[in-house]
Amino acid sequence: MARSKTLIAAHILLAANGLAAAETPEEKGRALALEHCSRCHVIDDSNPFGGIASTPSFKLLVTALADWKHRFETFHTRLPHPSVIRFEGLAPATDALPTTKTVDLKLEDIDSIVAFVSWLKAQQ
Ligand code: HEC
Repeated sequence: MARSKTLIAAHILLAANGLAAAETPEEKGRALALEHCSRCHVIDDSNPFGGIASTPSFKLLVTALADWKHRFETFHTRLPHPSVIRFEGLAPATDALPTTKTVDLKLEDIDSIVAFVSWLKAQQ
């Protein structure tokens, strides 16, 4: 009996550790960026040769632009994004062509992406 109580306690501890190790906003933002933005942007060192050459890398954006944070907070309103970005529960800014591969996000994902690029900026 004492042994099974010890095992249960160990499982509870493991579960609590799992919760403590939950994704930070930066990690969530990085995962979102890699999933949704990397088809056009280089995100970080994990896809240095990815993206489209004519599209600025996230590192360049946070380095070269004084208002980088504002631009990331409003990226969905800046060309070319309105044609592809869609938010859950909100009407799209533009109609999508049948051939458009949309980027489907939740509004709160913007905060996570901004947390990630703020972390990226702090690495410099
Ligand atoms: C379909 C391609 C594409 C996708 C997908 C895409 N972007 Fe972009 N993004 C661009 C291009 C092209 C530019 C440069 C636009 C310009 O300079 O006129 C850009 C510029 C930006 C800028 C700078 C905007 C400005 O006005 O200076 C930000 C911030 C940005 N993207 C964030 C994101 C984020 C965050 C995602 C993912 C959620 C994303 N982008 C997904 C193509 C894309």
